[in-house]
Formats: sequence, structure tokens, C-alpha cells
Amino acid sequence: MFKKTSTTSGYRDPEVLVGLDLGTSKVTVVVAERDGPSGEAQIIGMGQAPSHGIRKGLIVHLDQAVRSVRQAVGDAENMVGLELNEATVSFSGGDVQSIRSKGMISLGRSPRTVMQLDIARVIEAAQADVTVPSTKIILHTIPVEYSLDGNSGIDDPLGMTGIRLDIDLESVIVPMATVQNVFNCVEKAGISVTGFAIKPLASALGAMTLEESSAGAVTVDIGGGTCGVAVFSDGRPKLLSVIPVGGDHITNDVASVLKIPINKAEEIKKEVNLAPGDQDDQNDVLEFDHMGKNYSYSNAELTEIVQCRMEELFTNLVRSEIANAGVSMLPAGLIITGGAARSMGVDQYLSRILDIPVRVSAPLDANRMPPGRNGPEYTCAAGIIRYALEQERDPYRYIEQSMDMIIDHTRAQIKKKLPGMTEEHEGNGGPKPRKNFFENILDLLKELFY
Ligand SMILES: Nc1ncnc2c1ncn2[C@@H]1O[C@H](COP(=O)(O)OP(=O)(O)OP(=O)(O)O)[C@@H](O)[C@H]1O
Ligand SMILES: [Mg+2]
Repeated sequence: MFKKTSTTSGYRDPEVLVGLDLGTSKVTVVVAERDGPSGEAQIIGMGQAPSHGIRKGLIVHLDQAVRSVRQAVGDAENMVGLELNEATVSFSGGDVQSIRSKGMISLGRSPRTVMQLDIARVIEAAQADVTVPSTKIILHTIPVEYSLDGNSGIDDPLGMTGIRLDIDLESVIVPMATVQNVFNCVEKAGISVTGFAIKPLASALGAMTLEESSAGAVTVDIGGGTCGVAVFSDGRPKLLSVIPVGGDHITNDVASVLKIPINKAEEIKKEVNLAPGDQDDQNDVLEFDHMGKNYSYSNAELTEIVQCRMEELFTNLVRSEIANAGVSMLPAGLIITGGAARSMGVDQYLSRILDIPVRVSAPLDANRMPPGRNGPEYTCAAGIIRYALEQERDPYRYIEQSMDMIIDHTRAQIKKKLPGMTEEHEGNGGPKPRKNFFENILDLLKELFY
């Protein structure tokens, strides 16, 4: 039904969508099948493998990371009984910047209808104001809001009439090397990259309801090595960022304060209740033996270690990201997801210290996901499918970097490093060139006018 074919053929099964989440703790693959004409997709299977060679969301050992991706893809292939050859990929990594800019174009002296080319032009005008260092690229270009003749709050101006079109644009900028390493890793594992979704965006789409994103809310995906922060209001992302702190830092804190090995600390931290009730005696003592040594700590001591890290993360780092988003109100509060959102009592604890509503979220599609693989640590992976569907429905919603540019850069780097390469390595056997947003618009115009 979905045969693995050479990537040169450019063959893709139009019925199947694949998301690959390259996490610090695990690599997850989600396979979804389209639900006929509804424009929705049904998750039909998932695969997973422990991550190796990835630290704080960054690839630190390419071959190990490639093996993890292959294993996760193999696991998914076994579950769905299909061979997979392409995926939209989510990753985090440090140094993710959200930059806002404004653009304006005139539609002429008298009012006329806004066309696709106008939207492309106004986006370009706003991008002209964004300075991107040569070592970085714009991964996502996200129209936040349009205005027509000064009337703001317009979601989609296509087909509307006016004389002046303004845009408020968000550009998500990441280091080129981070993207190239992720691209290389996934392609080396035999999967062609069809697109990227930065982790905070995929997680927010996987966790946030439409009501929450319209009212204004922040999603924080607390993974193993990173926290993805996404501030939404009026249904649009106002800020996407990555904080290089995750649940593994809590494990390290427990290990270093108690002077115990990491694997034992990981076990103990999962026992901690961040919001103990009156019936939970904080003087109760947790006793355990490890490698012949006896340890004994009160619940209060353990709770304090975990609370300390959570407090620092949320009251300092997350709060300052929210402030950068420039959104005055977040009535729908905080939605936490990712593996560390499983910490007992974390919602009550954060609600108390931040004084906002807090909800722990599993993927919105949890009921369509395999049992045991539908918890908060899978929200990002499930969100990739939602991202891919939204992008198909409306190509102006999340505009992606040209895959060709990433491929060209990657090939240039490979050539620089290894001069004696085969034709295949040089790219003649590589994936078919993929067009970016502006090239697609150009094609559309050619079709219309020639
Ligand atoms: N019951 C639990 N209580 C507390 N923490 C937990 C629990 N279960 C898992 N975690 C933590 O969740 C983290 C892993 O989360 P997740 O699987 O979302 O990470 P990831 O997606 O691989 O990493 P990242 O998104 O940072 O790249 C680990 O730090 C793990 O200790
Ligand atoms: Mg993650």
C-alpha cells in the first residue's frame, strides 16, 4: 500500500502523514491516516526509541542519534505495517528566537481585492526588516495579524477589499547548524524531511484547545532537556521559545543534593508530590538502600528540591519569556505538557505560585492514540500532525523555510568536509527539490496568467 521507494521518485502516499519528534529522552514517530474529505487525520500508530546522542535538544553524536531515529521509525513501521519514507520533524535545541516585524503595502489608489501575491508581498515587506545573521535561518514565518485600511484583527485578508494592507509578522530564527544536524540525522536514517515544526509550536498545537488559544494562554512543554514555551492569543502564536532546562535538571538536582546515582534520583523524583495535602505527612521518611548503603530523607526535603527547580523555571525563566510576548492578559492560563508535567501536584503547585489557572495536558488527540502512548510526553509528536494539517489547509498560516535552502547548505557543508564524495552524496540521488512558499505563489500566478 505504501511501498518504500527511492527518494528520487518523490513518491508520497497522499493518505499518510508522519510526524517525528526528536526529543532529548526519546524519539517518537506518529503515523496518521487522512479521514477522507473531512480534512482531519486519524492517528493509526506510533513508534518510539530512547534518544541517544541528543543533549538539551541538540544532536551531540550524529551516528547515535541516527540509530535512535531508525529504531523509532522501525517501531512505528512494525505497528502500522507500512514502510515510512518521509516525515515532518520537530526538534528543540537552544537559541530559538521569535522576532516580530511589521510590513505594509499599498493596493492602489482605489480599493481592490487582496490577492495571494499581495499577501506574499506584504510578508516580504515585513521580512525585509528582520536581520538574520549568516549563521542562522528563519525556520517559521508566521503572520500574526493583518490590518486592512487600518482595521486590525484580520485573520485572513484574501478576497477582502481595501487600499492598504499591513501585517504583523513573527519570524522564528534558529541556528543553521542545528537545523542541518537534524536534517542530516533524519535523512541518514532513511527518512526524507518534508518540513520542520519547532517543538513549542508543535506542542502548543497538540495541547491547546481553540478556546484557550483564542482567549490567550501559554503552553509549556517540559521535556527531558528543554522547555518549549508558546504564548498564544487571538488564536495566533505571539512568541515561541526554548529554554534549555527540563526534567533531567530536576533529576540532577535530586542526585547532587542527595548524593545518589542518576537512575535512583530519577526514580525518587517521580515519588515526590509538589502539592502535598493535609493528609500527606511531610515528616514521613522515604528510606531506601542503594548499592549496600542506607538512605533516609523526609518528604519535606525531597519536595523542596523539586519545588526549587520548578519555581526557578517558572517564576524566572518562563515568566520572562511571557513578558517578551507583549501579551497583557492570558485568561486561559498555563497549560503544561511534556514528560515532566507528570510530576504529582505540579498543576496545583504552579497555580499557587503563579496565581493563574494551570492545566496538565495530554495530547488533544489522546483518545485516538495507542494506550500507554497518549500521555503528556507525546503531545509534541501528536501536535506535528495537527501542524501539517493546518499548513495544508492554509499555506499562509505557518510559512516554512525553503527545504532547498537547507538541503543546499547541508550539501555545501558536506562537500567542504569530504571532498572525495560519490554522486549520491553530492545530491544527484537526493530528494526532489522542494519549493518554498514564494515559489509556489509564483507558480500559481503563472498558471493564472499564462
Ligand atoms: N512521573 C513523572 N514525574 C516526574 N517527571 C517525569 C515523570 N515521567 C517522566 N518524567 C520526566 O519527563 C522527562 C522526559 O520528558 P519527555 O519525554 O517529554 O522528553 P523529550 O521530549 O524526550 O525531551 P525534550 O522535549 O526536552 O527534548 C524526563 O526528565 C523524565 O524524568
Ligand atoms: Mg519533547
